[in-house]
Amino acid sequence: MHIAYIQFAPALADLEATLERLRPFLEKCANADLIVLPELCNSGYNFSSRKQAAAAAEPYRRSRFIDVLVEHCRQRDCRVVSGFNERDGDTLFNAAVLIGPDGPLGRYRKLHLFKDEKDIFAPGDLGLPVFDVGMAKIGMLVCFDWIFPETWRVLTLRGAEIICHAANLVLPGMAQRAVPVQAMMNRVFVVTANRVGAEGRLTFTGASLIVDPLGEVLAAAPQEGPHAAVVEINPLRARDKMVTPRNHLISDRRPAEYAALVKSPE
Ligand code: ACM
Repeated sequence: MHIAYIQFAPALADLEATLERLRPFLEKCANADLIVLPELCNSGYNFSSRKQAAAAAEPYRRSRFIDVLVEHCRQRDCRVVSGFNERDGDTLFNAAVLIGPDGPLGRYRKLHLFKDEKDIFAPGDLGLPVFDVGMAKIGMLVCFDWIFPETWRVLTLRGAEIICHAANLVLPGMAQRAVPVQAMMNRVFVVTANRVGAEGRLTFTGASLIVDPLGEVLAAAPQEGPHAAVVEINPLRARDKMVTPRNHLISDRRPAEYAALVKSPE
């Protein structure tokens, strides 16, 4: 199986310009079975107002952005995970969508909103789903979700073999150091597709990466400029949870001792 990230700069509130920028990179990933794109890829990130964010959002079932990606999946027989500014009635979600040749296959809505996102988006209400696409089981996270170890573990417990992390990271080097550790601690593949460029006072940190279940970095992008990478993996490696012949990452856990994890904050 070949998995890929595309690191680029979506155009703020200009879908056609974004698609123009994206197309050559989709072609560069022609042999990929799974391509991961950055957060809020259909809209950009740093909106001047909620109104601008709403105007750039699209419904999951009626999206030109998703239609274009479905067509790419059909032509190349692949899947795409992308960040997606989703409008559902009057509510906006910072979502990720899983797209295949026959249309969208599922979505995730960002659980942990970062800073001013809280003025625009509702927190996710679809949990942490895992989707079986035949070649692998796929989970999705969006950007700041990375700092909550519970997200990685829940996806792992649900059987995710590849965690697709759509990002617009702004804290330099932090997630990029944490992602290999989470891959190692959960024995999963991770693809972090981060964006580059600047919007207003925000500069995005690039350095997208693909990591294997031992935490080895298989591909890494520069901090600046667009970049795409495709790597071949065996997703079955993520099923081997034996850390030593006597230690299984999942069954050696002591969940009865972890009750504090599931208590709501005071
Ligand atoms: C972020 O969650 N976009 C930093």
